[in-house]
Amino acid sequence: MAVPDKIKQEVRELRAQLEYHNRLYHSLDSPEIPDADYDALLTRLGLLEDKFDLAIPGSPTQRVGGEALSLFTQVTHTMPMLSLDKVSSEKGLGDFELRLQKKLGDDSQLQYSCEPKVDGVAVSLLYRDGVLLRGATRGDGVTGEDITRNVKTIPSIPLQLEVAAAPALIEIRGEIFLGKKGFADLNRRAGKKGSKIFVNPRNTAAGALRQLDPRHTARVPLQMYCYSVGVFEGRALPDQLGEIFSLLASWGLPVNPDINTRTGIEACLAYCRELLARRNSLEYEIDGAVIKINDLDTQRRLGSNARTPRWAMAFKFPAEEKTTRLLDVEFQVGRTGTITPVARLEPVFVGGVTVSNTTLHNMDEIERLGLRIGDTVIVRRAGDVIPKIVKVVRSRSKKNRKEIRLPEACPACGSAIEKDGEVLYKCSAGIICPAQRKESIKHFASRTAMDIEGLGDKLVEQLVDEGMIGTVADIFALATEQLASLERMGSKSAKNLIAAIDKSKQTTLSRFLFALGIREVGTATSQQLAMHYGDIAQIVAADAESLERVPDIGPIVASHIRTFFENQENLALIKSLQDGGVRWPKIVVDAGAPARPLLGKTYVLTGTLQQMPRDEAKRQLLALGAKVAGSVSKNTDCVVAGPGAGSKLVKAEALAIKVIDEGEFLSLLDALSQ
Ligand code: IVH
Repeated sequence: MAVPDKIKQEVRELRAQLEYHNRLYHSLDSPEIPDADYDALLTRLGLLEDKFDLAIPGSPTQRVGGEALSLFTQVTHTMPMLSLDKVSSEKGLGDFELRLQKKLGDDSQLQYSCEPKVDGVAVSLLYRDGVLLRGATRGDGVTGEDITRNVKTIPSIPLQLEVAAAPALIEIRGEIFLGKKGFADLNRRAGKKGSKIFVNPRNTAAGALRQLDPRHTARVPLQMYCYSVGVFEGRALPDQLGEIFSLLASWGLPVNPDINTRTGIEACLAYCRELLARRNSLEYEIDGAVIKINDLDTQRRLGSNARTPRWAMAFKFPAEEKTTRLLDVEFQVGRTGTITPVARLEPVFVGGVTVSNTTLHNMDEIERLGLRIGDTVIVRRAGDVIPKIVKVVRSRSKKNRKEIRLPEACPACGSAIEKDGEVLYKCSAGIICPAQRKESIKHFASRTAMDIEGLGDKLVEQLVDEGMIGTVADIFALATEQLASLERMGSKSAKNLIAAIDKSKQTTLSRFLFALGIREVGTATSQQLAMHYGDIAQIVAADAESLERVPDIGPIVASHIRTFFENQENLALIKSLQDGGVRWPKIVVDAGAPARPLLGKTYVLTGTLQQMPRDEAKRQLLALGAKVAGSVSKNTDCVVAGPGAGSKLVKAEALAIKVIDEGEFLSLLDALSQ
């Protein structure tokens, strides 16, 4: 068949692009596009090559990505290190089993090793007589780089296998990666030092392994999980992959505890679903699952082609990084007047949700990214973390990029903007700025504050825009008829809202303090203040010295509290709220000693908490005397589980430990702080 010139041209371009990205990804550890985009290019090329019979041996579809850099000594893999075929649908995995059954001429159920597909860097470790001899990268699958000195800095990789009769030679293959906590710690440190932020754990791990000085590698807390054996001599190995893993683990090699042996593809699908559900709570990043034939003899019978074995398949999960375009930047005014740049993005499906806007935090962040309107950007959303622009893709950005400028006046009220600390800017108008007013009312009504059911963000905006409320005190003067006159509000909802407002009047001192929205006074500090003073009058009267005696309160927070209560308008507001019927039970303060009702109890937090940041929940528990542990054991008294809770929840259930959800947890905190 004559191949149209257009197709030939596209194939040439795809190959050139893939080679360019291959080099960035595998050799220079600085990919410019996310994996999902790379995969799309590769899939398109494969499709055209198949359809028009254009496959050639050197094509990117025919080989494993990397190419060894000359900085390290090159090593040749006696057995090539292959890549994996991938599917991203359940049907794709079903078809995989059908193909295997056909090839084997046997339609009975097969046994598989189901494994997390850890997102890191593939390595080969060679042990001679049980001693680590050489560590190497995969490179292009045949030639890799000798990274022995770097590999030896990784604590979980044994320098000597713990076995009396070690095989004469064994090659262990696996993935070196950086865990989520290690990555977050590194970035926290980088942020403090003002140095470059790392984009994702995989690139950071790859970069660390490529250091010429192993001391640099050692600074990154790398880990490894083994997933196969390459060459081996001098000793027979078990004939099932699962048994090999147990053997390797008994020799002190790190094997992923989340690997499972399952029979039949249905059970593998269930494994993939379970793994996906646990993705956020795993301590390491994964980009999917790997399903492998468990029986080595069957593996051999199925064999491999140029790039991939026929006995294994990767099941890809939704990508956590995608490219999209920055359409615009808007500036939002927060409750305390802070002006935050917010990116408007072309909607993109990433990390399981559609993202169309995300905070840019401050002007320094924009500068650090070198961001302009019209840029193509990489958006990353890993787990329950807020989506983040991590990088600008220069080669794909528009020519006429537009600079992002801080507005000259507050976008909500036109007042002057002033600098607030090192990196922030704020509107100078205070509570007369409608944006600040709206935000402070939203905060006041929110669940962790006064908890006025039905008074959500949209309704607050409507009420302020209609001139029905101007301050939080006005909420308590609202009448049913007035509310019922609002667009989209029936008389029943109006009645319900009035009832909810009425109900919210009976609150606690700590909720009330938090609702006031004093700068840097979160739920934990509010609680400390309430427990320490027991009474609002005492807090109003407390001087900085007294305030600093409260746990967790330092000079800065103390000065924010003083500034708030020195403002006559705020005092008048508190009075009118109390006159309007807001009240709370009296707290009896045990002179000196804060109440510690949870002393001796151990709590574990897992999953996503939606109303309260995890740090805050932890601080509150600590303030009440509890211990907060990172893992569940028989000594745990209670597990607080939010959505996405995984192995900790399973373990708690297995040990019959009390589990509560976030709502129950908030009620508990509330009850204990009274
Ligand atoms: S098996 C012959 N198992 O994924 C099969 N690979 O896309 C070779 N990976 O190069 C790979 N976790 O870097 C295998 N449990 C696992 C894995 C895994 C992560 C990586 C590995 C490989 C790449 C293929």
